[in-house]
Amino acid sequence: MGILDQHKKIETNVTLLLVLSFLVVSIGGMVQIVPLFYLENTIEEVEGVRPYSPLELTGREIYIREGCYVCHSQMIRPMRDEVERYGHYSLAAESMYDHPFQWGSKRTGPDLARVGGRYSDDWHVQHMIAPKSVVPESIMPSYAHLMNREIDGQYIMDLLRAQRRVGVPYTDVMMENARADFLAQANPDADHSGLLERYPGAVTRNFDGQPQLTEMDAIIAYMQMLGTLVDFSTFVPDASR
Ligand code: HEC
Repeated sequence: MGILDQHKKIETNVTLLLVLSFLVVSIGGMVQIVPLFYLENTIEEVEGVRPYSPLELTGREIYIREGCYVCHSQMIRPMRDEVERYGHYSLAAESMYDHPFQWGSKRTGPDLARVGGRYSDDWHVQHMIAPKSVVPESIMPSYAHLMNREIDGQYIMDLLRAQRRVGVPYTDVMMENARADFLAQANPDADHSGLLERYPGAVTRNFDGQPQLTEMDAIIAYMQMLGTLVDFSTFVPDASR
């Protein structure tokens, strides 16, 4: 009888009920969340995942600046319809260097997590300039202005430094070569050995077909690498985690 009488006090006192409910929910939440910050294996390491190259990272900044994420997500859920349409479901490790992440839940346009390599550079250029010219029913806006915005990587080292500060493992060598790598990736005639050693699998070519380096080059470099780092023909999920 005694304990039930105590409980009556809580049920008839709204403030006490709220305070105690809040306490219970907080403890429950902490028990679930706090261990994740300390577990080494929260993110499964996956072969092939590397930090973005300087040009890809610049493309990513433009993607964010232009608000592409308002219409596009970058996370394929492990459901049949998604996997059949977009490819292998996204792994946590694939966005481990994403600051900020681009998962999203609203898709006005398709998910872009694996758009890399799906279309040619020419298709992307045409699609960005005039989406309706390649997909007649498209409601995507034109981003033709990116063709005219030249970039030279002047501040690329600062961008890498900012990413390093939030935990992306850019090395000193990567920082020193940031500008050279930035310029080399869009120049088919450059020496790419250093770039490819630092960023394996980076696609090197003149992305937008113009002689000058523009924001269009950067955003297409970014599009073309999305979801291509992990080789899913050899990837085996670790079920023990
Ligand atoms: C107003 C919403 C909207 C915005 C903003 C937007 N898109 Fe799209 N996007 C779409 C829609 C709708 C489609 C599907 C039709 C098409 O292919 O044009 C699409 C398609 C695409 C595709 C082809 C995907 C595929 O698998 O076929 C790419 C690549 C793409 N968008 C990139 C971008 C980039 C990069 C930006 C920012 C510079 C951007 N989009 C901004 C709506 C948007």
